Order: sequence, then C-alpha cells, then structure tokens
Amino acid sequence: MYPVIAIDGPAASGKSTVAKEIAAQLGYTYVNTGVMYRAVTWWMLEKGVNILEPAAVEAAIKQAKTECWVKDGETFFRIDGVDPLPHVRDGRVNDAVSKVASVPLVRQILVAAQQALAAQAPLVMEGRDIGTVVFPKSPCKLFIDADPAVREARRNKQGEADVIAKRDKEDRARAASPLARAEDAFLIDSSYLGVAEVVGQAIEQVKRVGMKPVK
Ligand code: DC
Repeated sequence: MYPVIAIDGPAASGKSTVAKEIAAQLGYTYVNTGVMYRAVTWWMLEKGVNILEPAAVEAAIKQAKTECWVKDGETFFRIDGVDPLPHVRDGRVNDAVSKVASVPLVRQILVAAQQALAAQAPLVMEGRDIGTVVFPKSPCKLFIDADPAVREARRNKQGEADVIAKRDKEDRARAASPLARAEDAFLIDSSYLGVAEVVGQAIEQVKRVGMKPVK
C-alpha cells in the first residue's frame, strides 16, 4: 500500500485547492471523492431513480458498474462505461448528492473503490470521511474548515448555484459516516488565509509527520 494524505472538510472550505497543490508538490495523485458521489448521483438522475427512496438507490447502485483507477498521476472514473465528469457539477446533482451519499450501500461501494486506489499510487484524497472511515490509519490527516458565510461567498464567486449550507447540514447529520474531523486531524481554518498560507501550513504538517515526496 502507498501512503495516503487524508483531507476532509465542508463544501468550499478550500480543501480541493489545497489537496491539488499538495499533490503537485509531493508528486502524489490527487483524488476527489466528491466526484465519485456526484457521478453516482448524476447516473441515478439520468436513470430516473427516485433518490428520495433509499431502497431504490440501493437497488440502482447494485446494478451500476462503477470503475475508478489512477494512471500517470490522474484519477479516472467510469459509470457503466460512461465518463461522468462533464455532468458532475450540474445544479440538479448539487441538489441531490447529499441524499444519495447518505445511503449506506452507496458509501460501502465507493469507500471500497477509494481504498483500492492506495494499491496503485501515493495519494492525496479529499472528501468528508477520508480520515475517519476510508483511511483511519493515515499518519497525515488534515481538516480544512472556514466560516459558513465565507464559504457561501466563495461558492457564489465561482458562479455555482449551490446551497452549501443545506448540503453541509445533511452531510454532518447523516447516520452513515457523517462529515467529521478525526480526533488526530490537523485543523486549518482557511477563513482569512490566502491559498499560499493554507498550503504552507498543510505542507508543514506533512513534513512533521515524515511523509516524503516521490519526486
Ligand atoms: O466535495 P463535494 O462538495 O464535491 O462533495 C459532494 C457531496 O458528496 C457532498 O455534499 C457529500 C458527498 N461526499 C461524501 O459524502 N463523502 C465524501 N468522501 C465526499 C463527498
């Protein structure tokens, strides 16, 4: 198994920016697990699955062929052979993804796929449950947070119609692996820091725990 840096935090906390930058600096592969939940959600909406009905979501995920792999420092996803990436930021996916992500069987299948990636390359993996559930033994866990008002403003600036307060509430409240900071995760509050400062703090923590670049 290769080393994994586990990064968690709420929507628009800045975790994707930091995760990508750390991965580039260390030569690790960046994995965005939110894209996997979004991909499954998009596919279910396409198939007309009633996503408000957990039993229907479970039946649908059993039928879907989900594939995920890393190659040359990039992560690839397919669902029933289709690349979902062009659709994962659709407004209807933003609205539905927390519902789909709360279904235990969906999480079980995607968590197994995420864990399998660590056999392929050193990873910087971001999500909501990476430090708590997917890689609880990672020696390097970061939890990136920011004030709700700051996060909402960032998302609006990106031009996305995404009601993150509602999504965060659902992500934190769900029974199956809710968004939470692992006890041993290093907390960075990005509310009033620039990207370089957040990345700097993250890289310092990576060095403190002795994780090494591959290049
Ligand atoms: O990171 P993101 O905002 O693109 O994630 C979209 C949704 O997917 C998020 O609202 C909750 C869910 N998610 C999750 O439940 N577990 C993860 N590891 C990553 C995302």
